[in-house]
Amino acid sequence: KAAKFHTSAPISHGIKRVGVIGSGQMGLGIAMVAANVARLPVVIMDVNKEQIDKGIKFMDKLLEKDVGKSKITSEHAQGTKDLVSTTQTLKDLRDVDIVIEAASENLAIKTALFADLDKECKPDAILATNTSSISITKIAAATSRAHQVIGMHFMNPVPVMKLVEIIPGLATTDNIVQTTKELATSMGKTTTVVQDVPGFVANRLLMPYINEAVLLLENSWASAEDIDTTMKLGMNMPMGPLTLADFIGLDTCLAIMKVIHENTGDTKYRPSVLLQKYVDAGWLGKKSGRGFYSYK
Ligand code: CAA
Repeated sequence: KAAKFHTSAPISHGIKRVGVIGSGQMGLGIAMVAANVARLPVVIMDVNKEQIDKGIKFMDKLLEKDVGKSKITSEHAQGTKDLVSTTQTLKDLRDVDIVIEAASENLAIKTALFADLDKECKPDAILATNTSSISITKIAAATSRAHQVIGMHFMNPVPVMKLVEIIPGLATTDNIVQTTKELATSMGKTTTVVQDVPGFVANRLLMPYINEAVLLLENSWASAEDIDTTMKLGMNMPMGPLTLADFIGLDTCLAIMKVIHENTGDTKYRPSVLLQKYVDAGWLGKKSGRGFYSYK
């Protein structure tokens, strides 16, 4: 079987050091591929030390699994671990060439964070966000360097999924788009460039599909299992839409659907009442132990 990761160091762009904000599933995955594939030093910043420890443990487990499957050598895995450092303070991002933010999907949190990053990071640093639906232009407006702010939307699980959507904001310059694309490529990803429209492309297609599946369930027109089996066996999807929604998080699906609905004003994007109810109940999918399926 072909090696999963490049083992050379394909650094052809200006990025020499990466900062990642957030050590949850997305942040950790992004940091891991930056170190393991692009071979770049990465500093992960998260205010929550417990979350950092959990993330690093998970990364070590994934690396060990790849060593066990002879996808990478143990020296390569150790090299990856050595490239990753962690911090709880933004000041430690002062010498990175790009920050990739993967914090909570909340406009107020992101704009406050980007205003702080603008102050702490060196003037030529690129500020990228992994937002799945918030306007890049809005986030950029919280900084004094809107031309250097860009969307870099990774898919979950980051080490496995090959796509990164690159989203320039209104003011983002072409050279920033180019550098960001090159970085994503060196991380082993294929890029697409998408305008700053609600849901970009990935979620503009995925979330109405998931929402439509929830509407079928809400109306009792088919069981959850039969809806998922239809798409798995009928369309060769790796997961049915309801399983996928549980895997993404129902709160995330609802939030994205709301952003698309509110920002387009188009009723065709109205979130399903059942999706809202599940979120209200705290049934958020895999992470909470219950969504459309039970995970206990
Ligand atoms: N992190 C890292 N690697 C993971 C992983 C994780 N969380 N979960 C699974 N993997 C790896 C496994 O280790 C395994 O690797 P090896 O081949 O090296 O052993 C590989 O993925 C396949 O895993 P499994 O055999 O256990 O299971 P699978 O065949 O069902 O694959 C899956 C799992 C890749 C997640 C697959 O089910 C899948 O492709 N699901 C759909 C994922 C998807 O659509 N993601 C996009 C979500 S939307 C999004 O992210 C955008 C947004 O803004 C909401």
